[in-house]
Amino acid sequence: MGKRTETFHAFNPSIFILLFFSLFLSQHYCAQVHNITSSQPLAEGQTLVSPGHIFELGFFSPNNSANKYVGIWHKTIFPRKVVWVANRENALSVTDTLASLTINSNGNLELVDGKQSSIWSTNISVPSNGSAALLLDSGNFVVQDDIGTQLWRSFDYPGDTLLPMMLLGFDNKSGKRDVLTAWKSESDGSTGLFSVGLAPQIPTQMFIWINGSTPYWRSGPWDKTKFLGIPGMNDEYVSGLNLDDNVQQGTKYFSFFLNRILAYMEISYKGTLKLMYSEHGENWNLNFEAPMNPCDHYGICGPFGVCKASESPICKCLKGFKPKSQGEWSKGNRAGGCEENQIVLWE
Ligand SMILES: *[C@@H]1O[C@H](CO)[C@@H](O)[C@H](O)[C@H]1NC(C)=O
Ligand SMILES: *[C@@H]1O[C@H](CO)[C@@H](O)[C@H](O)[C@H]1NC(C)=O
Ligand SMILES: *[C@@H]1O[C@H](CO)[C@@H](O)[C@H](O)[C@H]1NC(C)=O
Ligand SMILES: *[C@@H]1O[C@H](CO)[C@@H](O)[C@H](O)[C@H]1NC(C)=O
Ligand SMILES: *[C@@H]1O[C@H](CO)[C@@H](O)[C@H](O)[C@H]1NC(C)=O
Ligand SMILES: *[C@@H]1O[C@H](CO)[C@@H](O)[C@H](O)[C@H]1NC(C)=O
Repeated sequence: MGKRTETFHAFNPSIFILLFFSLFLSQHYCAQVHNITSSQPLAEGQTLVSPGHIFELGFFSPNNSANKYVGIWHKTIFPRKVVWVANRENALSVTDTLASLTINSNGNLELVDGKQSSIWSTNISVPSNGSAALLLDSGNFVVQDDIGTQLWRSFDYPGDTLLPMMLLGFDNKSGKRDVLTAWKSESDGSTGLFSVGLAPQIPTQMFIWINGSTPYWRSGPWDKTKFLGIPGMNDEYVSGLNLDDNVQQGTKYFSFFLNRILAYMEISYKGTLKLMYSEHGENWNLNFEAPMNPCDHYGICGPFGVCKASESPICKCLKGFKPKSQGEWSKGNRAGGCEENQIVLWE
């Protein structure tokens, strides 16, 4: 007892050293910053926060994997949804704790690993010194020059997620086309099998593709405020969906904006398109999801085939038709569809 009291009262320099270091470390590693400049890089343990504390950018490892990325998520909503990833095609190792995101000598935003090798960069031409990177309350991560002109925007490089005010579509003149591309898996942010976007053909529809070209699902045509083929689309919110089809400009863009409600649309690594929203900034609720059932899959029963999700098998041929290839059909590949029964009248 006496000994403990003595220790407590005695001057112990190690306590002050400890105190000093914990203050220093908390300032240095747990800090939230509001911009990245050449003199203020972002290190592991630090996050970049938007002015209204809506979005946050930092290092993360999805699903406790060996991959580490720099990404953006909503600051206060759980489960955390990563809405954009910088180095999705070039993951850092989870053991690399010395990586940093900085403004490099040519004014670009650059992610370097612990050995100072470049992992990812914005790679644009920056005409002046003093550029800085900021995260806006819309979730747009921007690089701006010394007078505040935006030089680069993450909204121009969508990943698997569309945020309100981002555009998904194409510009026929420039040839620029934006699609959302799914992750490879829950723990691998690189480009996976599925993508979603607008098809250029009339009528305007949204497609989910496999490998960028094989149709997997389609939304049905756009009708003023919604896509006709999405029955689950909640009418309460459909007014927030927008299709801007400018025939003269050759542009077509889909976007959504839910008034004062945080939301995102994503294509999951399993190929599911979801629109999620958070009314009070607490948790995520589902607005719509597609495909909803096996019959939603594009052309699953092929020409002259009929799909009924409640039956097994789900595909049947129209009356008077039979499977085009009985062998494929019985193996479960029914996309080849059906053909008319040949009724031989004369023999
Ligand atoms: C970056 O943040 C610092 C404070 O940490 C501030 O002094 C500076 O003006 C900011 N720069 C820009 C471009 O926002
Ligand atoms: C940077 O951009 C230049 C010109 O557009 C291109 O040639 C180069 O391959 C790019 N570098 C990287 C690392 O993406
Ligand atoms: C940027 O700064 C460097 C040295 O700090 C200077 O040599 C260079 O001319 C500057 N570039 C511009 C475009 O102002
Ligand atoms: C996520 O992590 C868990 C536990 O390590 C693992 O079992 C699961 O397969 C992972 N999921 C994916 C999709 O990678
Ligand atoms: C997609 O591409 C992969 C790899 O090239 C291939 O194995 C797979 O069969 C393709 N799937 C479709 C539906 O095209
Ligand atoms: C864009 O081009 C495609 C194919 O070249 C065409 O089918 C489509 O109608 C064009 N869309 C617009 C909006 O001009």
